[in-house]
Amino acid sequence: MCATTLIHDTSHITYESLLDGNRQFVEETLKEDPHYFETLANGQKPPVLWIGCADSRVPANQITNTNPGEIFVHRNIANMVIHTDMSMLSVLDYAVNVLQVKHVIVVGHYGCGGVLASMSNKQFGLIDNWLRNIKDIYRMHAEELDKITDEKAKGDRLVELNVIENASNLCKTSIVQNAWQNGQELKVHGWVYDVGTGIITDMKVSTHNNSKMDEVFRFSPLNPVKGRV
Ligand code: CO
Repeated sequence: MCATTLIHDTSHITYESLLDGNRQFVEETLKEDPHYFETLANGQKPPVLWIGCADSRVPANQITNTNPGEIFVHRNIANMVIHTDMSMLSVLDYAVNVLQVKHVIVVGHYGCGGVLASMSNKQFGLIDNWLRNIKDIYRMHAEELDKITDEKAKGDRLVELNVIENASNLCKTSIVQNAWQNGQELKVHGWVYDVGTGIITDMKVSTHNNSKMDEVFRFSPLNPVKGRV
């Protein structure tokens, strides 16, 4: 049988096995470092916010060889930065203004079901309204995308453009722009993970100020309102 037709076997995963796994994790971790959990419980100071896809194959810590306490994470379908998404905005605000992260990374992945679904005309349910935002990205880059005849290559490119545009969306938020105006050290990046090889590619869109941003998106510095309590 061709290896690519095999899907990772999850038949051994049950509700109970997760709790067993937890007990094993605690036991093994304490054997290595008896103070591990005690130290973690004292607080967190992650230097990175990760905005990734909810896909089970793209776990932030494992694929970057990091540990609990080291990456603050927000995940949704197709790693999107939607300016009215209160959940994403709350995570971003807390990460930038309280945790003072130094990097925010939008992480997409090739073969993303959300991105691929957005390329089709099929209805999938409620999610179509979420994925419609990716159709906007397709429209913005239609000239380039329409020229790609191979469907996989087209999907891969849309995955990359989705990361690039959502990293740009991050920069346009008042949260990121105010951090820059306040002289905070903060960089926004875009990465694409290849589930088939395990390798991350940097889209090289790292940004640390709004100098390249279209004028209309730039906010002038926020002046504190005098006399307000
Ligand atoms: Co995905």
